[in-house]
Amino acid sequence: MSAARARGAARPSPPQAAPALAELLAALPFACAAYARDDGRLVAANAAFEAEFGQLEGYRERERLLAALHGGGVDVDPGSEVRAPHNGRWYALYWREAGRAAGVEALLLTAVDISERIEILDSHKSRQDKLLFTSRLMSVGEMAATLAHELNQPLAAIVNYLNGSLRLVEQAGGPAQVERALLAARTQAEHASAVIARVREFVRAREPRRDAQNLAQIAETVLELLRLEAERQQLRIDVDLNPALPAAYADRVMVEQVLLNLVKNAIEAMREVPAARRALRIQARVNLDGEIELRVLDRGKGLSPAESEQLFSPFFTTKTDGLGIGLAICRSIIEYHEGRLFFEPREGGGSVFGFTLPPAEGRT
Ligand SMILES: Nc1ncnc2c1ncn2[C@@H]1O[C@H](COP(=O)(O)OP(=O)(O)O)[C@@H](O)[C@H]1O
Ligand SMILES: [Mg+2]
Repeated sequence: MSAARARGAARPSPPQAAPALAELLAALPFACAAYARDDGRLVAANAAFEAEFGQLEGYRERERLLAALHGGGVDVDPGSEVRAPHNGRWYALYWREAGRAAGVEALLLTAVDISERIEILDSHKSRQDKLLFTSRLMSVGEMAATLAHELNQPLAAIVNYLNGSLRLVEQAGGPAQVERALLAARTQAEHASAVIARVREFVRAREPRRDAQNLAQIAETVLELLRLEAERQQLRIDVDLNPALPAAYADRVMVEQVLLNLVKNAIEAMREVPAARRALRIQARVNLDGEIELRVLDRGKGLSPAESEQLFSPFFTTKTDGLGIGLAICRSIIEYHEGRLFFEPREGGGSVFGFTLPPAEGRT
């Protein structure tokens, strides 16, 4: 028996003082205890409470129990979630006035073990973090690829011009300072090219892995990730995915990225739209070519024909906080998958963004 119990046993035995209350508590399916309002001593506790908190030093006094669970402070919220130091488990605690029970004014404490829920939330969060992280990595990778591509051409031209100038200076026999300066410039330009070649190598190194993917599952992951944002915007998301939809041949993380980008854009497009009109729909089907086709439909302001032409170019954005690379990344991912990323106006206002993926059948 623990030290805490031994100490408690030296006091007047609480359960004897309150047989009816003890019986009532015993019938409850979770840890439950009553503490006297005046001096805070334990009046009664059920077996579940003794089992869960009996090891906690001072659990027979309300003040010490609170100190142990909350790190001090007697005026705690009537409901709170704490991690118990003696067993490392999470509890949802609820304090209620129990009125006059067993001859004393009592406060009733129920403690529900919520460790499992917390664990699920944590593992879920780490999955979300991973997805956000890859999302950032992929943006960085795509940006690096774009930059490398854009810089490569002018650098090659600079080296060519420098070589030409060097030849001219050599033919003219000097001056030597100019020749040295041109050589130094060429060394620097070659160095820059080498750096860029390494970046391109690095960006190419991340090999995607394709196998049979269920789009409904991918949509679920993505929507979980955006649920808070959708709730904040009072946005209805209506998912219409047939569970019998055939699997697509795809890299799961990459397709999650694409869908995440499309849904984010759709949410952002409805920022200024009255709440009642905000509605987001996700649909999928097998199209006439036998491809798996997924569409994200919003009721945003849509796109002008001029805007829709530039839509997929890198760095095209109409947002003050936009980067304009989301759709460019989506397009390269989908094209890598031998699919198509497309936009069309939505009937009744808004936009439709969609993509196609080949079916997995026959490829895995
Ligand atoms: N669902 C949509 N409705 C209206 N416009 C959109 C939508 N999705 C994308 N756009 C337009 O395309 C642009 C580029 O999108 P994107 O490449 O994701 O970059 P960003 O979101 O950073 O602006 C957006 O700035 C916006 O003008
Ligand atoms: Mg975007």
